[in-house]
Amino acid sequence: MSATFDPAWLALREPIDHRSRAAAAMSLLAQAWRAGGWSRIVDLGSGTGSNLRYLAPRLPGIRRWTLIDHDAGLLARVTAPEGTEVRRIVGDLAATGMDAIRESEADLVTASALLDLVSKEWLETLAAACRRSGSAALFALTYDGAIQWRAAADDPRPADDPDDGFVRRSVNAHQRRDKGLGPALGPMAGLRAETTFRAAGYRVWLLLSPWRLGPGDAALARALVDGWEAAALEALREAPAQAGSADADRVRAWAERRRATIAGGRFGLTVGHLDLLALPA
Ligand SMILES: C[S@@+](CC[C@H](N)C(=O)[O-])C[C@H]1O[C@@H](n2cnc3c(N)ncnc32)[C@H](O)[C@@H]1O
Repeated sequence: MSATFDPAWLALREPIDHRSRAAAAMSLLAQAWRAGGWSRIVDLGSGTGSNLRYLAPRLPGIRRWTLIDHDAGLLARVTAPEGTEVRRIVGDLAATGMDAIRESEADLVTASALLDLVSKEWLETLAAACRRSGSAALFALTYDGAIQWRAAADDPRPADDPDDGFVRRSVNAHQRRDKGLGPALGPMAGLRAETTFRAAGYRVWLLLSPWRLGPGDAALARALVDGWEAAALEALREAPAQAGSADADRVRAWAERRRATIAGGRFGLTVGHLDLLALPA
């Protein structure tokens, strides 16, 4: 049930994650960071430290990081950028995350590519923990369920395959499975987080941070198609009895066509993400 992530996949997505993040969220956060004289950051589900590598050069002054992940192998790969103190905690976010927010008196609680894995209940506990410690929150790159193929990277016209929608619905159903923190919010997570942090009294910005991929990102696009194929097949296997082998064949044929699109060297692919910034009122 618990989610494991291949470091090669995290490395592949990191440059695209960094270039996709909402610049406005970062500049609002940097202003608040300076004005508040903040220094303590808790990063939830840190993986190999992509969020740390993005934020460290953009937040001035002393930065004391607490990184939490249940995968010790991923955390061991994190190297501390100059001018940062880094504490690593191997633990489950279900409990450890909230303890770390309280104990470290975090000024900022952050995560990247995490919220779509969590449940509504976990999110509510998180917002309450942030409010109690007066922490700001930044959750980057939450998948929002949108996948759109286009004729070319610089051509906004859609280039749909008849089965894009069929596969996307299966992938999004797969996203809702329990990843260890309760039934996952999947594509609903960004909107739900916005409502939850507003209700907790925060000023909230929910901003678009889509991946815009083209032929230069073929390796990531290819990995996505492979991952979507596997997820859709798994979702179909678990679906009520009406899903049969014809549906599985449809998914496999779709994946073959989309691998050919990528190999053809002319395509655009947008994958929707959202960045959420919540500042104490
Ligand atoms: C999609 S990865 C993102 C990693 C990193 N933040 C990044 O942007 O590259 C999600 C991370 O959350 C961690 N994770 C997922 N569920 C967890 C849980 N219940 N407790 C602790 N860590 C968890 C995974 O081990 C993984 O490193």
